[in-house]
Amino acid sequence: MRFPGHGHRHPEDVVIAPLNLAAHVDEALAVQAIAFGLGADEVAVRRQIVLRHMTYPGANAFGATTQGRLVGFVYGMPNNRAHWWSTVVEPYLRTGGHDAWLDDSFVITELHVHPHFQNRGLGRSLITTITDATAEPRSILSAIDTDSPARGLYRSLGYEDLARQVLFPSAPKPYAVMGAPLPLRRR
Ligand SMILES: CC(C)(COP(=O)(O)OP(=O)(O)OC[C@H]1O[C@@H](n2cnc3c(N)ncnc32)[C@H](O)[C@@H]1OP(=O)(O)O)[C@@H](O)C(=O)NCCC(=O)NCCS
Repeated sequence: MRFPGHGHRHPEDVVIAPLNLAAHVDEALAVQAIAFGLGADEVAVRRQIVLRHMTYPGANAFGATTQGRLVGFVYGMPNNRAHWWSTVVEPYLRTGGHDAWLDDSFVITELHVHPHFQNRGLGRSLITTITDATAEPRSILSAIDTDSPARGLYRSLGYEDLARQVLFPSAPKPYAVMGAPLPLRRR
């Protein structure tokens, strides 16, 4: 076990805790920009989206912080079929008979860990912590449809592919939509 005795503590005193994302949106987007690769124009667009998302019912966020510095975050919300993300993925899920996953499901909207702090279990802790805090019986998300660390992490937590090659308007790469029962699988 990597972190004996401290489920929510990590090496170098990184702590996983609830995050007031609206108050820390610029720090969070700085992490996302370096982890995922966002330009200044994309950060400005995401900023408005994040602030709107945090007003939605059940929206929640957790951060990984060390010495007052945010080094990772996750946020999400109960799915709403009227939300933009849901309307994009719905036809793809329907084709495979999976569109019931859009009901009673907690959406992981973003999960990012600063590259210097990756591969130490922070991403796993963030996503299991936020899904443990929700009442929904399952979780869905989208990830770029490639063999990335993110896809490997999600599969190890029990997420399975519900649709592949999903195209979001303006996104250059296709995404996979994945779903998992909650609570997420532990090793
Ligand atoms: C995805 C991400 C958040 C994972 O965070 P992390 O803190 O590095 O993840 P963890 O240390 O908890 O890793 C958990 C699992 O991820 C996978 N993983 C992590 N880094 C990996 C790497 N470099 N190569 C292959 N698999 C890797 C492994 O399956 C790992 O399992 P393990 O615990 O058995 O080793 C992080 O890689 C990241 O921010 N990536 C860039 C942004 C991104 O793609 N976000 C997701 C958008 S959908």
